[in-house]
Amino acid sequence: MIKNTENDYGVIAKIFHWLLFIMLSFMIFAGNTMSGMPKGAEKLEMAGMHKSFGALVLTLIMFRLIWKLMNTTPQAPKGTENLQALAAKIMHWGLYVLMFAQPISGIVMSQAAGYPVSFFGLFDFPMLLEKSQSLGQLAHSAHGIIWIVLIVAVVGHAGVAIHHQFIKKDGALKRMSF
Ligand code: HEM
Ligand code: HEM
Repeated sequence: MIKNTENDYGVIAKIFHWLLFIMLSFMIFAGNTMSGMPKGAEKLEMAGMHKSFGALVLTLIMFRLIWKLMNTTPQAPKGTENLQALAAKIMHWGLYVLMFAQPISGIVMSQAAGYPVSFFGLFDFPMLLEKSQSLGQLAHSAHGIIWIVLIVAVVGHAGVAIHHQFIKKDGALKRMSF
């Protein structure tokens, strides 16, 4: 089934979920590898790739959100208390905020420093910001923190899913599996 139903996630939501899990993990690994490299042509080339992939990830997150808004959100598994269902809803929206905040802070950091963001050399995104050292520094700090908050949130999120699957045995993980 393509779309979500009252009880299950559809195949598009599942593809978005796991594709972005892989891409975000890869971006966090690549970002940290790049930060540890000495200044030079190689680092510059890697930064270009990181920014282009980051812009691609941001585009996918936008499509994922649009798809979520066009769909019913499945209800929490049977037997979940109201308060827990509310906590899950808040967590899911929080994860969206973090997913958006990481690439947006990257784009703000680059543009505020006066560097355009190119999409794999095909075109540059329009410059939306004036050069600003303070904004650039703020976005740089945010870009270095948000991914850590995202990892902590995802560990909690995955922990809850695993707890539901193996302790409560309500098939929670199956809802996001193919
Ligand atoms: C979801 C997408 C992204 C993820 C998960 C991500 C992740 C990271 C991580 C983990 C670092 C290393 C941070 C550190 O060492 O403190 C980093 C560095 C960096 N990112 Fe991203 N990033 C993303 C998107 C972007 C985008 C869209 C841009 C710009 C258009 C960007 C620009 C940069 C730059 C310039 C650095 C190097 C900062 C420095 O020199 O300290 N990132 N990124
Ligand atoms: C980058 C990492 C992750 C992010 C950002 C993320 C985000 C989300 C979001 C936002 C939802 C709500 C559905 C939607 O709106 O699309 C969701 C659902 C779900 N996620 Fe994740 N997730 C991540 C990783 C994981 C991992 C590693 C697991 C399992 C070990 C997992 C298991 C699930 C399950 C089972 C659901 C369905 C929950 C329900 O029954 O309502 N997720 N995830």
